[in-house]
Amino acid sequence: PENGSLSIVVLGASGDLAKKKTFPALFNLYKQVRYLVKDKDASREQLEAVSKFLHLIKYVSGAYDSESDFRLLDKEISKHESLTKTAEGSSRRLFYLALPPSVYPSVSKMIKTSCMNKSDLGGWTRIVVEKPFGKDLESAEQLSTQIGGLFEEPQIYRIDHYLGKELVQNMLVLRFANRMFLPLWNRDNIANVQIVFKEDFGTDGRGGYFDQYGIIRDIIQNHLLQIFCLVAMEKPVSVRPEHIRDEKVKVLESVLPIKDDDIVLGQYEGYRDDPTVPDNSNTPTFASVILRVHNERWEGVPFILKAGKALDSRKADIRIQFKDVPGQKQGRNEFVIRLQPSEAMYMKLTVKQPGLEMSTVQSELDLSYRQRYQGVAIPEAYERLILDTIRGDQQHFVRRDELKASWEIFTPLLHKIDKGEFKSIPYKQGSRGPAEADKMLEKAGYVQTHGY
Ligand code: BG6
Repeated sequence: PENGSLSIVVLGASGDLAKKKTFPALFNLYKQVRYLVKDKDASREQLEAVSKFLHLIKYVSGAYDSESDFRLLDKEISKHESLTKTAEGSSRRLFYLALPPSVYPSVSKMIKTSCMNKSDLGGWTRIVVEKPFGKDLESAEQLSTQIGGLFEEPQIYRIDHYLGKELVQNMLVLRFANRMFLPLWNRDNIANVQIVFKEDFGTDGRGGYFDQYGIIRDIIQNHLLQIFCLVAMEKPVSVRPEHIRDEKVKVLESVLPIKDDDIVLGQYEGYRDDPTVPDNSNTPTFASVILRVHNERWEGVPFILKAGKALDSRKADIRIQFKDVPGQKQGRNEFVIRLQPSEAMYMKLTVKQPGLEMSTVQSELDLSYRQRYQGVAIPEAYERLILDTIRGDQQHFVRRDELKASWEIFTPLLHKIDKGEFKSIPYKQGSRGPAEADKMLEKAGYVQTHGY
């Protein structure tokens, strides 16, 4: 809606992230804005869109620490701006760092010195950064201080693409716009909560990166912890981004130090066959961690965050298990929010078995998005989030204090793992992960339920 030119600079244009996520998302956004193409297979329109999109792209190659290269980049952006700016237009510059974090400091400095928006007519310069944002509390804080010295917080967009998923964005609506959940969402009624991420493939060519980080830094400390916040936080004062993020920080600060008994680590067999992974690597490709929240709402309710590669299926869900009714013999109530694949929400209920006999059975109340919202395209997480960065909406981005609080939770554990104090238990590819994780789950009070 704003007048003026928009330049989106993808730094790291030849990398994996840019190829898999950033460019496809930009292309889809472009199509929707320019063409309103809804049908992804409309081939003539598609081809035309591709060719026009490619015309808008300019490739500039350079080194991440070369001032003259960044000055060249600035010239290219200015050229584009002079062609597209309307008389009253401002200039908007978005820098997307699809890069390894080791070069964030030099790149952000170069942007600041050579590539900022200089228009007298207004506009902005914003930067988007991806995880891994640091390796532990100290390195993340260092990075935050360094980038914070160059840009204001409203200019920095720390992306966590799980916050762009449809059912993650639905979480606060679900919790606070439905009367039936308000009185139930607490320790009096909920026995345990699981937040689970599974992939049925391994690190596939990303072993070099992955081995430096492991599954906790790759998935749990960011994606699953963000979901945890939305499930566990208190109601924000308003829907303003600052109010929502204030509540996320509070609940993160209420998490108790993780106990040694509340952790199971695993590594799939064959992981070390990757030539970029050391033969003696102890890096976990699977982890199950119990978080315990010290506040009135959640005291005593375990939150089990579990993530693994090369498991039996690909899915991510939130599983809220309710306590027994007095004298309960079978099947607890469970409320499941499936983020992917096939977005759905379902509730496990006990009902009378239909028929002449008076017996009970567990059944499901099922809201499957594909059926209910037929023909409604669910946007990719990256599309939504990139659009937010252009609109200047930071609600679904991680604030600096939130990031700090999340590293505070996991850093002591990560340091112990790095020192080799926890061993990753081997597990078979295509399995559920180490059996020890299921035992820990049972000990935490999870009762296996069955569908109909
Ligand atoms: C990324 C992780 O952040 O998320 C990857 O680095 C993982 O290891 C990916 O595969 C999963 O994202 P999605 O959206 O496919 O579930």
